[in-house]
Amino acid sequence: MRIFKDPGRLNAVLSALKKRHKDIALVPTMGALHAGHLSLIRRARHAHQIVAVSIFVNPSQFGPREDFRRYPRTLQEDIALCRAEKVDFLFIPAVKEVYPPGYRTFVEVEGLSKALCGKSRPGHFRGVTTIVAKLFNITVPDAAYFGGKDAQQAVIIERMARDLNFPVKIKVLPVVREKGGLAFSSRNRYLKQNEREDALVLYQALQQAAGLINRGVRKAGLIEKHIRRSIKAKKSARIDYVSIVAGRSLQPVKILKGECLIALAVRFGNTRLIDNLTIKV
Ligand code: PAF
Repeated sequence: MRIFKDPGRLNAVLSALKKRHKDIALVPTMGALHAGHLSLIRRARHAHQIVAVSIFVNPSQFGPREDFRRYPRTLQEDIALCRAEKVDFLFIPAVKEVYPPGYRTFVEVEGLSKALCGKSRPGHFRGVTTIVAKLFNITVPDAAYFGGKDAQQAVIIERMARDLNFPVKIKVLPVVREKGGLAFSSRNRYLKQNEREDALVLYQALQQAAGLINRGVRKAGLIEKHIRRSIKAKKSARIDYVSIVAGRSLQPVKILKGECLIALAVRFGNTRLIDNLTIKV
């Protein structure tokens, strides 16, 4: 595995490989790698000749009062995991290489970025699309792999890739869950024991919602109400949003039809977790 810190050098090496028709996959991450990330790396390894992983805790996607400073950084473990998964290139740039002094350019997908998490995290998706666009330009991938836990992020990145003509296939893989159903997240390590136990309610509430839908319930408001009620029963939980939206437009739906996304964000203590379920009606 070759480790690069310099965007220009990595770009030169990967562009040369691309000229030789090598098929390149990118797995963008912020590190603190867990089973969810490993599922992306393994799928990329299986399907592509060259696998590049990036580890960059991207400051532009954190709000001023968010957890940029305390976001888990476990670089040595991450390097060992990438080696074990036979990653070819690991990109770990410094902030000043990505956003040098005078940096001015941002990418924003209008509308989609303002829905769901965009409401409580203004500017978050602008930061995500900016870094992902930069990573696409640096690593010239044929495909890029993203986790399904960040469903809104995946929809926004797909839109950006299409709108900006990035010749990159966006692959979104299913949510990977711990025993008990909690979705793997780098932020799970912030949870205290009681919060971790309470957080199991997210998956349970989504499963209950799926049960209601299987029994024929179609009113989004009713399903959201059930989910909210289950979550509110947990002492450490504070709901940010529970929302059922159309899978592509992310616009709220009243009656479930076609592909819908049940998306939620909930704080347990100081830790904000997201989860979701895609339903085809
Ligand atoms: O999903 C993440 O870890 C990040 O949002 C991403 C896509 C690596 C961009 O920083």
